Amino acid sequence: MIPSTMRTLQLESFDGPEGLFVRELATPQPRAGQVLVKMHTAAVNPSDLMFLRGRYGVRREPPTTPGFEGCGTVVAAGPGLGKLWVGRRVALATQGNFGTWAEYTIASAVQVFPLRKSISDAQGAMMLVNPLTAWALIDRAVRDRQRGVLLNAANSALGRMLIRTATARGLTSVAIVRQASQVNDLKALGASAVVVSSADDFANQLADACRTHHAGIGFDAVAGTMTGAMLKALPGGARVLVYGALSLEPVQVDVGTLLFGNRVVEGFWLTEWIRQYGMTRVVRAMVDIQGTLAHAMTTEVLATYSLDQAAAGIRAYQNNMGAGKIILRMA
Ligand SMILES: NC(=O)c1ccc[n+]([C@@H]2O[C@H](COP(=O)([O-])OP(=O)(O)OC[C@H]3O[C@@H](n4cnc5c(N)ncnc54)[C@H](OP(=O)(O)O)[C@@H]3O)[C@@H](O)[C@H]2O)c1
Repeated sequence: MIPSTMRTLQLESFDGPEGLFVRELATPQPRAGQVLVKMHTAAVNPSDLMFLRGRYGVRREPPTTPGFEGCGTVVAAGPGLGKLWVGRRVALATQGNFGTWAEYTIASAVQVFPLRKSISDAQGAMMLVNPLTAWALIDRAVRDRQRGVLLNAANSALGRMLIRTATARGLTSVAIVRQASQVNDLKALGASAVVVSSADDFANQLADACRTHHAGIGFDAVAGTMTGAMLKALPGGARVLVYGALSLEPVQVDVGTLLFGNRVVEGFWLTEWIRQYGMTRVVRAMVDIQGTLAHAMTTEVLATYSLDQAAAGIRAYQNNMGAGKIILRMA
């Protein structure tokens, strides 16, 4: 029995967690090609923090329900879809009008993926955005015939996935972190070398590590001066894919590094990757992510919050993202 109303988080102004309120709204109805999902859990990612401030690539005017991914059970399908999806536990992504930080949400039927029993609701909430990005970036390195990759923000959930997926695909990884206390942990995870960005001779250490471990492509989640530093440390002809802006700074690259080394900086956005490469590759990736790469794609959860506690939880995550991921649990 689907209730006529549901509890949802509403972003009422672009003020970060301070703009979030729990509200009771009409349960949405799925239209053609859509499913209604009873949410179990939802993820909170850096992209959500940007969305809450109106600074993300996808922008909806308040009041709106945030949340780009989560895990739940399909409870109804729109006209034309039949009963195929109903009753299935799924991971879902949504960038439409309804977010995942609610008791129910609407998703396009092509943005829901059945979850294996072995995947918990908590992991299921984080099964799409970061794992697909890690898969896509490492796939790019493999298709470019690289032997090793360079990455920063290496202790992030996605950074850890990149290290483990690189290892699983037979690539080396050179990892950049901000804190020396993370070095041993990431080496134990499989990183070939870990370099601390505050070291006095950071540039030399990075170039040495890239040379030693044959890193030929960089994955940059930080931007600012870090993009140029990575590009310079890589060999001539290399490219850096910028996929995040954790520093909140514009990309800065020394012109000589670009010109004389024939190096390239390009952007990576998962939404665009899916558009370009299509659902066949996404489905293939999801089979790997829940199968052979399931261990590589696991994310540690620091804490779980109810809808009522969500704003406090998101504030805590925002103030110390390095401490780990939080999950929203609906019931
Ligand atoms: N382009 C795409 O399609 C796409 C898709 C998915 C994710 N992303 C991006 O991937 C990045 C990582 O996401 P996540 O979910 O894995 O993050 P997360 O686990 O929530 O972790 C955030 C990490 O960011 C690091 N960090 C924060 N500010 C930093 C700064 N100024 N310089 C260097 N490191 C900083 C923290 O490092 P400490 O441990 O040192 O505190 C922490 O490890 C984000 O930028 C996200 O937007 C992009």
